[in-house]
Amino acid sequence: MKGPGEGDDAHDLRSAVGASRDLSSLEDDGKSASPGGDMDSSVPMCSPNVPVPRFSPTFFDRHPLVCDALKALENSIIYFRGKMVGIPAALDHSSGALNYDQVFVRDFFPSALAFLMTEKPEIVKKILLRTFRLQASEKRVDCFTLGQCVMPASFKVLHNPVTGSEKLSTDFGGSAIGRVVPIDFSFWWIILLRAYTKAIGNCDLSQREDCQRGMKLILSLCLSEGFDTFPTLLCANGCCMIDRRMGTYGYPIEIQALFFMALKCARDLLKADGDWKIYIALIEKRLPALTYHMRSHFWLNHEQLNDIYRFKTEEYLYTVVNKFNVIPESIPDWLFDFMPRKGGYFIGNVSPGRMDFRWFAAGNCISILSSLTTRERSLAIMDLIEEKWQDLVGEMPMKAVFPALESHEWRIVTGCDPKNNPWSYHNGGSWPVLLWLLTAASVKTGRPRMVKIALELAERRMGKDEWPEYYDGRDGCYIGKQSRKMQTWSMSGYVVARMIAEDPSLLGLISLDEGKDMNPTLSRATSLPSRLFPDPPRYTPADNPTSLTSICASMVRKRFRPFLALFRMRKHFRCLTRVNLLGIRLFFTTIKCTSTGYSLSFSPRF
Ligand code: GLC
Repeated sequence: MKGPGEGDDAHDLRSAVGASRDLSSLEDDGKSASPGGDMDSSVPMCSPNVPVPRFSPTFFDRHPLVCDALKALENSIIYFRGKMVGIPAALDHSSGALNYDQVFVRDFFPSALAFLMTEKPEIVKKILLRTFRLQASEKRVDCFTLGQCVMPASFKVLHNPVTGSEKLSTDFGGSAIGRVVPIDFSFWWIILLRAYTKAIGNCDLSQREDCQRGMKLILSLCLSEGFDTFPTLLCANGCCMIDRRMGTYGYPIEIQALFFMALKCARDLLKADGDWKIYIALIEKRLPALTYHMRSHFWLNHEQLNDIYRFKTEEYLYTVVNKFNVIPESIPDWLFDFMPRKGGYFIGNVSPGRMDFRWFAAGNCISILSSLTTRERSLAIMDLIEEKWQDLVGEMPMKAVFPALESHEWRIVTGCDPKNNPWSYHNGGSWPVLLWLLTAASVKTGRPRMVKIALELAERRMGKDEWPEYYDGRDGCYIGKQSRKMQTWSMSGYVVARMIAEDPSLLGLISLDEGKDMNPTLSRATSLPSRLFPDPPRYTPADNPTSLTSICASMVRKRFRPFLALFRMRKHFRCLTRVNLLGIRLFFTTIKCTSTGYSLSFSPRF
């Protein structure tokens, strides 16, 4: 039986890719590629652009930290033979560089957004093209040659002081710590291409033959036939932001959410002509299957947890409830305390006999941005963050993973990794870079108060602490033990968060609508007023906190808050209201009866 994305289509796909010419000859100025504006009538979208606002000088005056961060980012740009090629992961020279002096596509993403938001798209274009060219170079790890489509893990410029020449040294995982090969880079690359297209408002770059080919190479890898029985992507440990052994092998949520988002972006950007139409067809097939799988098997809330707790095992055939034969005893104790009545989230991983119930911040926020979740469930994820604020955010937004693996579990899962000690680094550490994802998800779901508090927490420390890579501790209040300082994505993550908070329309660069991909009927998440952030006002379309409309709206909201609260609670008071009405009726009947001298005979009806 052929699954989605398999069969004849996949065969055509392989031959199409096999036929591709040697890409290493492509120049980043586009000379050997088809000219920039080569759009024909079969070109699909060039979706309306997201006008990049000009931030007023008062914005920068109000937020000097944004200026500092932007200045540091611009000064950190690396050049290769006179052309910009990227930004290193950290500018900290106090501890051994390891590979922190290299350019990572993953780390560059928030910096790229910051450049797009400050009208410097040229840097982004150059770097997109550079990484694409590196994708085309020869890749070997020991004696093994990697596939054409694999993106570099990182790269750096080597200067030869004797000859004065420069060389790019690229790592495809062959020299990375633990030999991890990133999968997420390819997806970030496609998502960035869409953001760039949106920001400049034309498809010149994305329609270039070399960019089209770059996307197709990536798609050929993740949509090709294999032994898969699920539409999700099977991954090795350390293939995403968490690039060490942390039990993320299998089907990690971060990769699935990025995969989903990249497929949607690629569908928008691909030209629907010639041999390449096949990719659009494959994406169309894969998206509903992926959406269904994720929404059905990764979602967890209180009700679902109760179902899993009561699962029967060893069920066989098609109508079973416990499809993956998950043993209820494998539910960790912490989860029963953690799971609030209100809210829910996508769990970390699902595969036969295994559910990783840990909370992963990036995967959940990207699910909201990409609309892998429904609107109701996006609200439920944010409800959970609010309810569990102290656990997930604490003093520094926000934890990459919750909770930390401890004692025996830490030994088995991490292989006794001292860098990933409990509540440190990937294992329960807090990552300032995640601030931009949290902010974007909060703005999309209308939680401005959450944005405000998260930004205030970050601003209180990050500049003073010199932009650490991560914080340690249950509350995230210690600078990470081995944390680099002047981490570039901590800076750009903050800048992007501040700018989205200032102008929510910027969300259009990285947020996708739900569309018609998949809409299974799902139960509605409850949304009672929250404990931590009572009565959160929703963002209106033009919700600029400094605009006159929003100032008036907030004054009206403040004045009418008690009435609004009563109005929101009306459902819960419906019974009481009925009783009250009954009481009033009874009161008047009594008066009437007493005044007319009749005796009272009354049988209440509800
Ligand atoms: C760490 C992070 C990884 C990041 C790299 C460079 O290894 O886990 O996500 O890309 O540092 O900053």
